[in-house]
Amino acid sequence: MNIYLVGFMGTGKTSVGRQLAAQKKWNFIDLDELIELKQQRRIVDIFAQDGEPHFRKIEKKFLKQVSTQKKFVVACGGGVVLDPDNIKLMKKTGILICLCATCEAILKRVSASTHRPILNVAKPRERIELLLKMRAPYYMQADKTIDTSLLTIKEVVAKIAKMSMIRK
Ligand code: S3P
Repeated sequence: MNIYLVGFMGTGKTSVGRQLAAQKKWNFIDLDELIELKQQRRIVDIFAQDGEPHFRKIEKKFLKQVSTQKKFVVACGGGVVLDPDNIKLMKKTGILICLCATCEAILKRVSASTHRPILNVAKPRERIELLLKMRAPYYMQADKTIDTSLLTIKEVVAKIAKMSMIRK
């Protein structure tokens, strides 16, 4: 089985995933990094050149590949849950943990980055608020949810490691 970390941008999936994998001595993969490596293009360029629907297709393809592995901690892109097939696949091949955070915390964490095409807009706060609302029903389908707003990476990792379903 694998551990899939889902949740909005800036909730800590990559940092938490890396540390969690190291602690459990599992492999770690960041789906966005894998896509950029295999496509030899930055995600922001995939969005700009081919559009979001094309990116979602690629994302789905690589998730499928990764899901054939075992004992992987997978940090997924924030929009991976929008495709019901992806949720089904992740649940079938692992456990789905959603990291969430307040709009303020997200804004603080992503404000320095320009590599997130979804947030490269004039009013990022409004965009985050809208997307959080729109995506809530998707994120809610995770097996567990952890609010990372006030927690350190270490604290989030400890919480996940303590969960009975993944202690083995
Ligand atoms: C996206 C989140 C990004 C990346 C892409 C789209 C989204 O990943 O997959 O820019 O739709 O929320 P992170 O959540 O790792 O930033």
